[in-house]
Amino acid sequence: MRTLGIETSCDETAVAILDEAGRLEVHLLASQVDAHREFGGVVPELASREHLVALPPLVDRALQKASGPVEAVAVTGGPGLVGALLVGLRFAAAFAWSRSLPLLVVDHLAGHLVSPFLDLDGGSARPMPSPTLALVASGGHSAWYVVDEEGRSRRLCRTRDDAAGETFDKVAQALGLPYPGGPVVDRLATTGDRAAVELPRARIDDAPLDMSFSGLKAAAIRHVRSVGLGPVNEAAAGPVVRDLLASFQEAVVDQLLAPADALVTAHHPRLLTASGGVAANSRLRERLAELGGRHAVEVLLPPPALTTDNAAMIARAGQLAMARGERHDPRRVDAWTREVWHPPGMRRRLEAAGPGNMPGRAADAPNAPRGPGNGEAG
Ligand code: KG4
Ligand code: ZN
Repeated sequence: MRTLGIETSCDETAVAILDEAGRLEVHLLASQVDAHREFGGVVPELASREHLVALPPLVDRALQKASGPVEAVAVTGGPGLVGALLVGLRFAAAFAWSRSLPLLVVDHLAGHLVSPFLDLDGGSARPMPSPTLALVASGGHSAWYVVDEEGRSRRLCRTRDDAAGETFDKVAQALGLPYPGGPVVDRLATTGDRAAVELPRARIDDAPLDMSFSGLKAAAIRHVRSVGLGPVNEAAAGPVVRDLLASFQEAVVDQLLAPADALVTAHHPRLLTASGGVAANSRLRERLAELGGRHAVEVLLPPPALTTDNAAMIARAGQLAMARGERHDPRRVDAWTREVWHPPGMRRRLEAAGPGNMPGRAADAPNAPRGPGNGEAG
């Protein structure tokens, strides 16, 4: 079915239309980065208001450019900023209701997970081999998942504190570099010495696969202050800044990839993927290629334009959910702000409590929409 995708979970208003084979017919984005830049991060209220203004004309433009009538609507329900999510969710629900179209409320992370399978050059979406081992690293999330051919996923490990993208943004902010920090750190790090500054790589005793970035972030910011660096202008950044950022970026990539060997050995994936804004990072992409080479597993990365938030991935995740038989009642959908995840014990208790407590599929997310009784943790 030709699917309209809507994404408003954070600071990008995004609309896309995919045909039934997952080909991108339309892919539009209204970025709010400029509106938030002077605050050094995303301001939730401002994000909601910007979405309200940007979304209706963007949908109009998308419908005009589509090759035919839209037959289904997919929208991000969470996790994200609640006000921002509600703008997209209510719009999508009203749109689907008024045209009697099926509505799919999609988890933002399930969207990132399918982004590597999309083609920006007009090809159909690639099939997903099972099992796929997938890293999602963005401004709000860093976790590894195992994904099957129908797009069902299970989280294997995650960060216990900050997300990788947030770590890039905070260290860049400490240097006075513009928001978002990831792309500028990536550019400056390419000419720095990765071994110049020693930075910690903490592991967690009781969860050896989980990741941690807060100690690393604090150490990098302490270094900025003790050396008296900043405010830095990108064009004029000298070797001291470049060396620090190269060392910092290497440590972030080390932390993201720390569980990878053990996960590959345990899950024997047919494919390795990475998605989310940080998957645009050049050093991470290089190290993922090395990892795949070492284990003789193919690595598939999204085109850089689809690593950050977009609606094509939401439309595609909606198509896969529809193929699994999911639908949502436009009158009963609601946004959720945190990642949906249940520890194994809680999941068994929900299953025992009956199907009413397990909307959609097993609730170990990210493609399990939230509903009554489907609480959250993690
Ligand atoms: O996926 P995304 O657009 O939004 C969230 O869902 O959070 O990710 C945005 C994050 C920001 O923290 C940004 O600094 C980071 O992705 N990012 C990068 C790069 N490009 C974007 N981090 C490292 N290297 C990059 N090249
Ligand atoms: Zn995202």
